[in-house]
Amino acid sequence: MKISGTGSALPKQVVTNDMLSQFLDTSDEWIKTRTGVSSRFVISDEKLEDLAAEAAEKALKDAGIKAEDLDFIICSNVVNEYITPQLSCIIQGAIGATCPCIDINCACAGFIHAVEMAEAFYQAGKVRNVLIVCAEEPTRMTDWSDRRTCVLFGDGAGAAVLTPGDNIKSVKLSASSATEKLWQYRTLQPTPYITKDEMDVPLQMMGQDVFKFAVTAASKDITRALNDSQIAASDVDYYLLHQANIRIINAIQNYLEQPADKFPTNVENHGNSSSSCCPILLDECNRKGMFKKGDKIAMSAFGAGFVSGALVMEW
Ligand code: UT7
Repeated sequence: MKISGTGSALPKQVVTNDMLSQFLDTSDEWIKTRTGVSSRFVISDEKLEDLAAEAAEKALKDAGIKAEDLDFIICSNVVNEYITPQLSCIIQGAIGATCPCIDINCACAGFIHAVEMAEAFYQAGKVRNVLIVCAEEPTRMTDWSDRRTCVLFGDGAGAAVLTPGDNIKSVKLSASSATEKLWQYRTLQPTPYITKDEMDVPLQMMGQDVFKFAVTAASKDITRALNDSQIAASDVDYYLLHQANIRIINAIQNYLEQPADKFPTNVENHGNSSSSCCPILLDECNRKGMFKKGDKIAMSAFGAGFVSGALVMEW
C-alpha cells in the first residue's frame, strides 16, 4: 500500500510548563531538560471522537478519496469516554463511510500495528483503501497531582489513508510482556458476586525502565525493518519516531549514527499523545511539503505492554 493522505486535529487548550508549575512541584526547566516538552494540547470541552472524525476527513481530502470508497477503518485508541461502541464505528458514521471497522489498542505503537494490519489485508486481496485513525486522550489517564506522569502527555488525533501501491517496504512488530512497568487499572460495575479487591489507579510508570526499553526496542525494530527492506540507515531521508521524550529520540539517532535533521520532532509543543504522535508528526511534515516522491521514511513507536514496531516506506 502507500500513504496517499494525512490529517490531524488538536484540542484548542494549550498548557505550558509554566501553567503546570502553578499547581505542581515542577518547573519549565526540569520538564524541558528531561523531556524536551514546552507545551501540550489538552482536551477541555472537545470530544475525542470529534477530533478523530476531523483528522479522518482531512486525510480523506488530502488523498482525494471519498468516505464511501473506503474498504476498512482501523482506529487505534487506548481510552475514550465510550467503552462501547468502538471509536472506529463512531468515526465511520461521522464521516459517512459504510465499510467494516475495528479498534485496536497497542498503546503508543498503534499506528505501526495498524499499518501492518492494513498491508496484510491488502496483500490478502481483501481491501484497496484503508483509513487509519489514531485518537488519544492520555491526559485523562494520569493523576494531575503526579508530576512524574501528567507533565509528559498531550491529546490529539492523527489519520492516514492507505491506497494500492508497493510503498510499504517492511513492517516489524514486537512484544515483551512487562505489565508492571506502565499500567492503569479501572474499576468495572460491581456485581453481587465480585469478591476480589478492585482499584481505580491512574497511569503508573517506571520511567527509567520504560526509557531503556524504548531506546533498545526502537533501535532493534528500525534495524530489522531496514535490513528486511535492504535499505541502509544512511539512505533513509526521514526518521519519524514516537514523540515521548527528546532524549529517547536523541539516543536512537545516536545509535543509528544519522544526522539530527533527518529526525523531525514536535514533542516540544505536543508532548506524548500516545499512538497519535506518529500520524500527527507525519501530517505536519506532509503539510509543510517536506516529503518528495521516492523519499524513504522510517517510523517507529513503543508503548505499554511492552509493544513496539517500526516500518520503512517510500513516499
Ligand atoms: O509512550 C511511552 C511512555 N513513556 C515514556 O516513554 C517515558 C520514558 N521515561 C522518561 O521519559 C523519563 O524516565 C521521565 C521523563 C519520565 C523521567 O525522567 P528521568 O530523568 O528518568 O527522571 P527520574 O524519574 O529519575 O527522576 C529524577 C528526579 C526525581 O527526584 P529525586 O528522587 O531525584 O529527588 C523525581 O522525583 O526528578 C523528580 N521529578 C520531577 N521534578 C520536577 C520527576 N518528575 C518531575 C517533574 N518536575 N515533573
